[in-house]
Amino acid sequence: MEPIKVGLLGFGTVGSGTFTVLRRNQEEIKRRAGRGIEISRIAVRTPSKVKGAEGIGITTDFNAVVDDPSIDIVAEMIGGTGVARDLVLRAIANGKHIVTANKALLAVHGSEIFEAASKKGVMVAFEAAVAGGIPIIKALREGLTANRIEYIAGIINGTTNYILSEMRDRGLDFATALKAAQDLGYAEADPTFDIEGVDAAHKVTLMSAIAFGVPVQFDRAYVEGISKLDAIDIRYAENLGYRIKLLGIARRTEKGIELRTHPTLIPEKRLLANVEGAMNAVVVHGDAVGTTLYYGKGAGAEPTASAVVADLVDVTRLHTADPEHRVPHLAFQHDSLANTPILPIEEVTSSYYLRLRVADVTGVLANITRILADKAISIDALLQKESEHVDGEDKGETDIILITHETVEKEINAAITQIEALSTVVSKVTKLRMEGLK
Ligand code: NDP
Ligand code: HSE
Repeated sequence: MEPIKVGLLGFGTVGSGTFTVLRRNQEEIKRRAGRGIEISRIAVRTPSKVKGAEGIGITTDFNAVVDDPSIDIVAEMIGGTGVARDLVLRAIANGKHIVTANKALLAVHGSEIFEAASKKGVMVAFEAAVAGGIPIIKALREGLTANRIEYIAGIINGTTNYILSEMRDRGLDFATALKAAQDLGYAEADPTFDIEGVDAAHKVTLMSAIAFGVPVQFDRAYVEGISKLDAIDIRYAENLGYRIKLLGIARRTEKGIELRTHPTLIPEKRLLANVEGAMNAVVVHGDAVGTTLYYGKGAGAEPTASAVVADLVDVTRLHTADPEHRVPHLAFQHDSLANTPILPIEEVTSSYYLRLRVADVTGVLANITRILADKAISIDALLQKESEHVDGEDKGETDIILITHETVEKEINAAITQIEALSTVVSKVTKLRMEGLK
């Protein structure tokens, strides 16, 4: 049988990695797919960057590839929501299947793209868009399909996990650690997407749609990154037996779905707390299977290519199948999506880490605990740092760190407002959410 023909758009970290892996393992891949998979055209902005692709048609005209009748699959490895969206929609209109690593595109324009693909009867495969080389999309969409998924919690951004690990283990400052992550090819073209939590939020948004059968709703996600995280909180968290990780969380509750990304304290004994560097890990809890954990490289050329090529094989295998009998793009049938609400962050339930800088005078703690007690917020642990330990000099101030039991976010916010109004509390309260992951 003739090889299936792929048009590759973009030849950066992931595009070139895909080309390399496909070429190196082509015989093995052919035996698995049942026919060869051939990148027959590559569209790039800068042709001089394409190495080792002699004999393959290279063009700077991206439309020429998506319009080429000989191309069966368009592999979009450009990124972003601009030109990538136009090209993907044009390729779908031309009846091409899509393989993409572009979580931003699908998290923001997923509904439009999946609808267009359903109408046209083509596949949109996006394993590489979430957690790099970990086959988490396949696990959620197929392996766990018997389950009612209760929650997902994951370290799903390699760049920020790398930064946090390097800051903690090697004492690197934020900017140096970010530069290293960029040099290693982990970061997004605009690294603010990584450090402000947007990339992780894109990924958890996609997972929430597959897990709960709801539309892709990035605009409803709560997003908070690591740029405002203070090194002192990383140290205090460790004193209390926790690590701070950027977690993407999607949880089913009676009131609706929690969809949030933020720095999170995790007990140091949990496996997720020990995921270091650019590694990713995702915990999924299903009612039948219980808790499952997926771990692996979350970024980089070949780990991501592993997922892209897996999608190319899947599409090749299902290419001739009746569209009605393929696995739905988002696990649930297109006409069976639920309208379960995504909860605003104020309605989310969590336990909290609070750090308060206070004047070192008697009675200060009693006033704070009274405010919390009035709101039925109970304290799980308390740490007080002596004055001389604050910033290395004695200002007559001290840090109080409180760990609360679970409460609704609006209650803790109201308590913080009252605490900050106390004359003995000398700066803004730092609040971090916690996950026990039991
Ligand atoms: P790179 O920046 O390394 O590569 C992007 C490629 O697309 C380059 O060939 C670039 O050309 C080209 N390109 C960028 N913008 C345009 C444009 N406006 N018009 C035409 N061509 C353009 O990105 P990555 O390979 O890292 O990422 C690609 C996709 O994969 C993104 O969606 C990203 O989120 C996703 N991804 C990345 C991972 C990683 O580890 N890097 C992991 C998982 C997913 P030029 O070289 O000339 O700039
Ligand atoms: N910038 C992303 C990360 C790439 O650091 O995880 C993988 O999606």
